[in-house]
Amino acid sequence: VSASVVVWHDLECGRYSADLPLWRALADREAGPILDVGAGTGRVALDLARHGHTVIALDRDPELLATLEERGDGAVATVLADAEGFDLAEARFGLILVPMQTIQLLSDRPAFLRAARRHLIEGGLLAAALAEALEGFDPQTSALPAPDVARHEGWVYASQPVAVRERPGRSTIERIRTTLAPDGARTAEPDAIDLAHVTAASLAREAAPFGFTAEPPGRIEATDEHVGSEVALLRA
Ligand SMILES: C[S@@+](CC[C@H](N)C(=O)[O-])C[C@H]1O[C@@H](n2cnc3c(N)ncnc32)[C@H](O)[C@@H]1O
Repeated sequence: VSASVVVWHDLECGRYSADLPLWRALADREAGPILDVGAGTGRVALDLARHGHTVIALDRDPELLATLEERGDGAVATVLADAEGFDLAEARFGLILVPMQTIQLLSDRPAFLRAARRHLIEGGLLAAALAEALEGFDPQTSALPAPDVARHEGWVYASQPVAVRERPGRSTIERIRTTLAPDGARTAEPDAIDLAHVTAASLAREAAPFGFTAEPPGRIEATDEHVGSEVALLRA
């Protein structure tokens, strides 16, 4: 039995909350509706909907979106699409959010920026969180960060970061995902995520040709479990 994509997603992303005050403040201040890009199981989208905002959640993973719909009880509409070149016909948004470094996962950022600009009203805002430089650590010499652990239907799931490898233009975060079955059987599988190096300044330069003007970036402070983020604010 392999763990579902939802369990790992909730385990590795679902508990972060340091960014929510910033997204709520932007949602209160900017025009709507809001498009949440890479919404996953709706950590941000459902929070903003609970605060009275109209949110559309876009992701390319159907299982994550199905879970979001269930948890939101229909309060948040979902769109199954690739962020790199989505087309929502005539839909226009006052605010497009890309939380949790998702923009650094994209391989074609220009395609995303073009699509985002087309779906923003004049004067709308694109806000994207960007992880601050991750320090490469070597498990031989540094203490490992604590694993994320969850229990689900008698199973235990643990995700342990083991290395951050720096390469030109990208960082690879390596984890070991361990499951412990109710009968004691254990599995361990490596998982790696590649994050492109993107700063608010570099994104501003990339976004300018698509009609965005950069505003001073926002900030999300580091927590014990997460590095801090810059939040690029790009005005259409
Ligand atoms: C780090 S998670 C963030 C989830 C959620 N926004 C949060 O902050 O908790 C990244 C999400 O982006 C989605 N994603 C990654 N690449 C994507 C793409 N090209 N198009 C659409 N969604 C994508 C993944 O499926 C995943 O749900």
